[in-house]
Amino acid sequence: MLDSYADIFARRADRYYRAMDMFPKARDAEFAVVADCLDADCKVVYDMPSGSGWLRRYIADDIRYVAVEPAEYFQQRCPSDERSSSLLAQVEAVPAPAGTACAIISLAGLHHAPDLSVIFAEMHRLLKPGGQLVIADVGAGSSADRFLNVYVDANNSMGHEGRFLDEETARLLVAAGFEVIEDRQAETPWVFGDRISAGAYCRDLFGIDGQSAEQVCDALADIVGLSEGDGSHVVQWSLRRIICRKPG
Ligand SMILES: C[S@@+](CC[C@H](N)C(=O)[O-])C[C@H]1O[C@@H](n2cnc3c(N)ncnc32)[C@H](O)[C@@H]1O
Repeated sequence: MLDSYADIFARRADRYYRAMDMFPKARDAEFAVVADCLDADCKVVYDMPSGSGWLRRYIADDIRYVAVEPAEYFQQRCPSDERSSSLLAQVEAVPAPAGTACAIISLAGLHHAPDLSVIFAEMHRLLKPGGQLVIADVGAGSSADRFLNVYVDANNSMGHEGRFLDEETARLLVAAGFEVIEDRQAETPWVFGDRISAGAYCRDLFGIDGQSAEQVCDALADIVGLSEGDGSHVVQWSLRRIICRKPG
């Protein structure tokens, strides 16, 4: 068993990246659920941890995008242009001045963090007064929790022991100085052209070894839900989304 998230992604970032590269639209709804709630006047958004910055294409072109990513493999593949940049950094200690973010988005990246209160304090420092924090990750007790902490844990040689979002998360956010505006489960379906693609995608995304794509499909269908209709195959993924504001 590996003891830190950094160790895990140092070993399997390439498979995660391959999944995202092969099926770039599968998680459209998931990225939209965090991108679509940004304030209309947002000018700078930090994405932490960003992976390879896949969120960028869901953010309006006129918003400056800053990816913060601790794994070098991912950070090297982040977008870099006049409106997009990236920092190779821990999300607990970002080398950027206080008050420079209008919004911070954190998608699917907090469930292995050793101490959320340190990360929330850093997010609070980076945000300008009145700025937004949007977090989406697996909700404790959800079907995605069971898929990851039971099925993936049993079929990934590195295991999977996520600490998912729950009531305590909101308490920690308030303790860090945030006002919690919304805290709810959101539907974030993953869409594929055929059934086997759903299994192949999740095998790579979650580093599942020793199971075929077909077996992963069966587990998705049993635990999360996998439906077919209108020529697409949909994994009924959902995340808990928490929207907060740093008081102005
Ligand atoms: C499941 S990926 C999510 C990436 C991206 N936000 C997305 O939605 O595809 C988890 C991310 O957490 C990063 N990470 C690694 N170690 C971490 C740590 N100690 N704390 C927070 N994030 C970490 C990984 O490098 C990776 O980018």
